Amino acid sequence: MTAPVGLPLWLLAELTYRCPLQCPYCSNPIDYAQYKEELTTGEWFAVFDQARQMGAVQLGFSGGEPLVRQDLEELVAYAHKQGFYTNLITSGMGLTEARIASLKDAGLQHIQISFQASDPTVNNLLAGSKHAFEQKYEMSRLVKQYDYPMVLNFVIHRQNIDQIDQIIELCLELEADTVELAICQFYGWAFENIEGLLPTKEQVVRAERITNEYRKKIEDRGIKCKLIFVVPDYYEERPKPCMDGWGKIFLTVAPDGTALPCHAARQMPIEFPNVRQTPLKDIWYDSASFNQFRGDEWMPDMCQSCPDKERDYGGCRCQAFMLTGDAKNADPVCGKSPYHYLIEEARINSETPTPFEELRFRNPKNSKLLSISQEQLIPTRTVTD
Ligand code: FES
Repeated sequence: MTAPVGLPLWLLAELTYRCPLQCPYCSNPIDYAQYKEELTTGEWFAVFDQARQMGAVQLGFSGGEPLVRQDLEELVAYAHKQGFYTNLITSGMGLTEARIASLKDAGLQHIQISFQASDPTVNNLLAGSKHAFEQKYEMSRLVKQYDYPMVLNFVIHRQNIDQIDQIIELCLELEADTVELAICQFYGWAFENIEGLLPTKEQVVRAERITNEYRKKIEDRGIKCKLIFVVPDYYEERPKPCMDGWGKIFLTVAPDGTALPCHAARQMPIEFPNVRQTPLKDIWYDSASFNQFRGDEWMPDMCQSCPDKERDYGGCRCQAFMLTGDAKNADPVCGKSPYHYLIEEARINSETPTPFEELRFRNPKNSKLLSISQEQLIPTRTVTD
């Protein structure tokens, strides 16, 4: 069945891969260090114009660390004038009171600050910066003072999951309106470090129980704070409808202008088009890469005949590719997939994790080293536009 193509409602502008931190679970591609030619201010304006004309309404500025771009305020102001709802996804590094104020003046509606842990030492070790926790704490307070909705994000993994109660307490202290307790999804650098980051089932169950207890306490105390707990795919039996379906509503533009149906797709053996050469409309509606996993014709027989295919679209294409080497396979998270044993193996391995010191941190040196070793494993690109 060929599904009608929807509108790219959600545009994610990855302004840069540069970042002062080096989180070992970063979702940027392993080979990020090789992409240096960032889109200029004018090129981003052209992307926003086209996306808005195509129906995009929500615009996330992310990276890397988007604050590294000195034209961020200009980009936000332009997007705001075009009518986008704008959201900054940041580590807080590079934020100052002056920038919080100027982003507000530019029309920014939402800032999400991510922390690595509630414990300053663990936070700074994971971030690879001695001052990260202090900076994030201070900036979170200022974001609240400037009347932005306060959204805090914690990527949860085995190095911080047992401190979930301290994490929630920190969020309450900072008067967060919304807290995302997102257990690590294993893409990019997180996949590279899965053996040191995947929590055990018991840890996940405990963390969810504590979160539910806090939800009750928060309600009883009349505090307005929404806790969002995201269970990792590796402890699900049914796959998620990733990105709400490939090429359905999400459009990511990478720092160098490469257009992607999801931010993790760059690792696939697919030649994705670039906004420098191709109009966004042609990319969204006509490119081979964006059409590749629309509808259900591409699905293996097992998924074609599955009653859940309209709900989960066969799961995540990136995960299928990373785990099985073929993005057309059912997501191994699915209990019916012949590759589900890979998920079960990872769960077993989580009982004997690799130590913290063996985590591979996201930095240019590791990017170059790991890219060399991956080149020998990844098949050559097969689909071109
Ligand atoms: Fe790319 Fe799921 S992360 S399709």
